[in-house]
This record gives sequence, structure tokens and C-alpha cells, in this order.
Amino acid sequence: MTAKVLQNQAGTTVPNDTAQALSPLPLMQLSTGFWAFKTLAAAHELDLFSWLSGSPGTTSEELAEHLHIATRPAEMLLTGAAALGLLSKRDGHYVNSPVAEAFLVRGKDTYFGGWVQMLDQRLYPGWDKLTEAIRTNRPTTWDPDRQESLFAGEDPELLSVFWEAMHSISTLTARSLADAVDLGDTDRLLDAGGGSGAFDTELCRLHPRMTATVFDLPAITPIATGKVAQAGLSERIVAVPGDFFLDERLPGGHDTILLSMILHDWAEERGREILAKCWDALPDGGRVIIAELLVNDERTGPAPAALMSLNMLIETEGRNYTPAEYTRWLHDIGFSDIRTVWFEAPGANGVVIATKRAVA
Ligand SMILES: C[S@@+](CC[C@H](N)C(=O)[O-])C[C@H]1O[C@@H](n2cnc3c(N)ncnc32)[C@H](O)[C@@H]1O
Repeated sequence: MTAKVLQNQAGTTVPNDTAQALSPLPLMQLSTGFWAFKTLAAAHELDLFSWLSGSPGTTSEELAEHLHIATRPAEMLLTGAAALGLLSKRDGHYVNSPVAEAFLVRGKDTYFGGWVQMLDQRLYPGWDKLTEAIRTNRPTTWDPDRQESLFAGEDPELLSVFWEAMHSISTLTARSLADAVDLGDTDRLLDAGGGSGAFDTELCRLHPRMTATVFDLPAITPIATGKVAQAGLSERIVAVPGDFFLDERLPGGHDTILLSMILHDWAEERGREILAKCWDALPDGGRVIIAELLVNDERTGPAPAALMSLNMLIETEGRNYTPAEYTRWLHDIGFSDIRTVWFEAPGANGVVIATKRAVA
């Protein structure tokens, strides 16, 4: 008989039901998970990784002097960051590990620090009230009685943190999507709820004949316009303001519509409504691509998708759905050739792709 397992956040599994393996260690690992996160978040907030980039490294005394703090916490922070694989030690000096150098140094195009900051400032306090969200079935990061949706009336400072985060995640996810799915025959991409245009920028860079439209709420499209201009792609990517619920139709003239991290924000009924609008906007032979952290059909994981789903509980009316659920919604609308392609990326572990075919 297969042993039951506990799955930790990193996706590793440990036996939990055989007599000799019974130990509270997995629980110790789970319950101290936030120590690791807060160490990363503090080091990032203190700009440790950007400061170390390109330098010969630091000792605890040097860090203490640089931050005007006592040597004790400086030493503890450096040791903690090294233990987590964020720093390594060379000739008595702490230096960035390759992962910190690649993803936690401000200004690099692979910068991932926006995500760390967003989790620390916005989601960590929301997760602190997870039990309340479970009891009430309501978000904890905003108040549905005072705000129409997560996306309405956001504090501008947190909004910019959110977009730094989304952009870094989605740029990396777009690269994995492009490796996993052949998009070479896509000429005109519509990125519905495209946010900062990270997917469009990355996919247009990789596919020279592709042009793209980022469709999003009027408050968000200027962010995409700015990011696209920074990438030098303003001639191939336009940002069009709109609302996929209020507008009767999505912009037409596109052969592929991407929905990345959109459907998990909404209840099933609203998700089906968005997909039906994709159907109406596509030509015969056009396709829709749903990119998400997909929960498996058995609803046992994987951990990143299952935990993102709980994140949707504290943030939205949605949840992370399974390929079987998306397949049913797409099938009901009329889509065919529905398939799931799995890959690994920070913002998605796969896509569900479907084609619009005229009825024979
Ligand atoms: C989680 S973000 C995903 C952004 C982007 N697709 C990505 O993966 O980087 C959800 C996006 O949906 C957009 N959105 C929310 N409600 C919308 C609506 N009614 N019409 C159009 N876009 C909307 C938000 O502004 C936001 O950009």
C-alpha cells in the first residue's frame, strides 16, 4: 500500500503514516516556513542583494556599518540568508548566490523582488487572517462592502508594488510558455486582462512576426504602454482600455487570446462569461490559451497551485481550477481540440488550449 504523504510548499513529500517514520519534523518544517520567507523579505527590504551585486562581498561588521545597525543582527541576517541559499561565503566575505544575483538585484530585467515585496506588504497580512477568510468565505486584503472588486480603487503605492511583482513573474512565465507551446503561427495576440503587458513583450521578442493587444481596465493600460515603450516594442504592441464584463465584445482581429492568471480571480459563472466573449471575438480556427497554476483533477495538489488557490480566497471570489473544469467550460461554449500542456514557471504550471471551429 502506498504511504500517505505530507507535501510541503517546495513540493517535496514525506511519509506520514508508517509507525517508524512518524515524526513531528514535517510539521516543524511547515510551521517554520514563514521564518524563511521573512528572512528573504527583510534582506530584500534592506536592499542587501542590490548592495552586494558587483561588490567583493561583505562581513557582518561591514554590513552593520552600512546599515547603521548592530553587528549581532547583521551577522544573523547574513547567516540566515546564506543558510537559505541566497548568499554564499568566499574568503570570509558573504556574496550573492547565483539565484540572488539573477533575481533579487534591482534594475535587472529578471528582477523578482517586486513579488517578494508584494507578498510581504500585502499578502502576508492577508494570510494572517486566513482562518477568518475560511470561516467567512470573504477576502481579507480588501473589503467587498466598500470596494467593488480587488481591482477597483487600489492604493496607488500598493498598485505599483503589485505591478512590479506581476511583471517579474509574468515575464518568466511567458518564457516557459513559449518553450512549451509553439506560438510561431500566432500573428495577432489579444492578451485579455494583460496587465503590464509582460507576456506580450516577451512573446513578441521571441516571435518576430507577432503583434499584440493588451486589453485591460483604463487604470492599468498606461502601465502596459510604459513597459512596452521601455522594451522598444510600441510599434508592435498596443494597449486598449476596456472591461471584459461591461464591454459587449472583446477587441476583434486576433487569432489567439491569452488569459493569464485571469480566470482564477473569478467565480465559475464569471469565468464562463469571459470565455464566451473570447469565443465571440475569435475567428474560425482561432484559439484561446488559459495560463494558470492548475490544480490537478484529483484535487490533491500540486502545492503551488493549491496554495495559490487559498491565496485567491484571501484576495478574490475565485479559486484555482482544474484542467477538467476548464475543459468542461470550454466544451460547453463550443471549443474543440482542448488540451492541457504542463510546464514549470512561477505564475503557471500549464495551459489549457482550445480551438474555435465552425460547426461542420
Ligand atoms: C492577476 S492580473 C494578471 C495580469 C496578466 N494577465 C499577467 O498574467 O501578468 C489580473 C488582471 O485582470 C485585469 N482585470 C480585472 N478585471 C478586469 C476587467 N473587468 N476587464 C479587463 N481586465 C480586468 C486586472 O486589471 C489585471 O491586470
